[in-house]
Amino acid sequence: MKVSVRVPATTANIGPGFDCLGLALPIYNEITVEETVMPGSGIEINVIEDTQTYDLLSVPKDKNNIVYKAIELLYNFVGQSVSDIKITIKTNIPVTRGLGSSASVIVGGLLAANKLLGNPADDAVLLSIASEVEGHPDNVAPAMFGGFCLSSMEDDGSVIYSKISWPEDWKLTVIIPDYELDTQIARSILPENVPREDAIYNVRKCAMLIDAVYTHNSELMKKSLEDKIHQPYRAGLIKGFNELKELTKNKDDILGCVVSGAGPAILVISENNGFDKIKNEVLQIFDDLNVICDIRTLDVENTGSVIL
Ligand code: HSE
Repeated sequence: MKVSVRVPATTANIGPGFDCLGLALPIYNEITVEETVMPGSGIEINVIEDTQTYDLLSVPKDKNNIVYKAIELLYNFVGQSVSDIKITIKTNIPVTRGLGSSASVIVGGLLAANKLLGNPADDAVLLSIASEVEGHPDNVAPAMFGGFCLSSMEDDGSVIYSKISWPEDWKLTVIIPDYELDTQIARSILPENVPREDAIYNVRKCAMLIDAVYTHNSELMKKSLEDKIHQPYRAGLIKGFNELKELTKNKDDILGCVVSGAGPAILVISENNGFDKIKNEVLQIFDDLNVICDIRTLDVENTGSVIL
């Protein structure tokens, strides 16, 4: 028996919501898990590129694979051990770009394995295992449930989340550059401690951001996308980010510009056809930096993961 799951890409943080806010995007990976027919044949992990040319050779094909690790935790949860299993990952989400490709494969592997086991784990357990493997829940929650999600990993490892309706006319443009940035590196440069005024600044902005989404208040959203606890430290690793922030400031129909997850992709949030009006200037910024970009303007993905 085999089970395939389709899981969306995600963009995490949305500025001030470091490690707790995320949005799903309509770009998908497909993860298939099957019990292998031949007992004793072990683990087989295959990665199939769909449309991209990124280097996927570095993806571990053994027990160090994150999908396998997540599945192993699920089996342990039900008191079983994984024996012979085949995992196939069909990727369409660009990897190491800040678009939740790791969260998508973890979630897909878990949902598929859970179905194979007869659905012993509920959403809360799956969310918690996926967040444990990923390290934080902000990509995992929207990858599972779609839409705009708030999530919190509690002290006991459980994860709570809430999904808030994202205004339909707020478009998401992702600018995906042709270079990779490892999330571990983008996290390692962050300071262990932040000044109290910066922490308060982010709490303030994050609270306003959630209200702006909830009340569909564009003017409030424009004031809410600032952050002082991760983007200023990461800006040096993300080509064009400072220039893009400068360009998008006070532009009609542009609500703001943030790093997508840990980068290097950048997210611009706009209303109406706001992004189209600045697209040529954006292209010029990256052209001047010799960075080739794939630019996609998308609607929020509201469905989340689907068992096929
Ligand atoms: N919240 C995470 C970060 C997202 O910014 O490091 C990347 O996985």
